[in-house]
Amino acid sequence: MVIEVVHPSIVKSLLWPDESATQRFAQTLAGASALRNAFIELRGELGAGKTTLVRHLLHALGVAGRVKSPTYAVVEPYELPERQLNVWHFDFYRFSDPREWEDAGFRDIFASSGLKLAEWPEKAAGFLPRADLIFALNAVTETSRQVTLSAQTTVGQALLLAVSESPSEPLLQGAHDLPEAMP
Ligand SMILES: Nc1ncnc2c1ncn2[C@@H]1O[C@H](COP(=O)(O)OP(=O)(O)OP(=O)(O)O)[C@@H](O)[C@H]1O
Ligand SMILES: [Mg+2]
Repeated sequence: MVIEVVHPSIVKSLLWPDESATQRFAQTLAGASALRNAFIELRGELGAGKTTLVRHLLHALGVAGRVKSPTYAVVEPYELPERQLNVWHFDFYRFSDPREWEDAGFRDIFASSGLKLAEWPEKAAGFLPRADLIFALNAVTETSRQVTLSAQTTVGQALLLAVSESPSEPLLQGAHDLPEAMP
């Protein structure tokens, strides 16, 4: 019997004991070449740390100055000419009008290459393409966060591999090993 696995989902569990651990993780993730064209969903309750992770990631990628939460604008674009990288940070919390998907050019953004990061993807379900990687963040204490990373595509798997080979490996808790045949 042949079982074809089209989109093997690979899951890792991490614990960030404090925000500096979140920052170190973001710095490692920033070094992953697969970020160049990736769509990452950030899930979790209010205050889980979605924007905080994105802030540390954008700073690690070279964004200078303040990283605004795009709650009202829905999207904040960033251009990083030195890396030849475009990044879009979405927060769909207030997304309610499906016409906005076309009118605000979101469809075009998701058709472009670059890094797309989306908080509250649940609110735009049905519009968004399949995410390469999903972060599910949970506040355990005031400062610690339990995080589940699910790769849904080969790009997501490459990102998981990049963060697994990093010096932050000791933070991994209950990680499932990647199969040896991983690209
Ligand atoms: N380990 C940690 N990682 C991330 N954030 C942390 C951590 N410890 C404490 N925090 C704090 O938790 C808060 C997270 O707020 P943040 O705005 O990032 O949440 P959010 O998930 O984006 O919420 P919202 O759904 O409202 O957009 C920040 O004040 C941050 O400083
Ligand atoms: Mg937020």
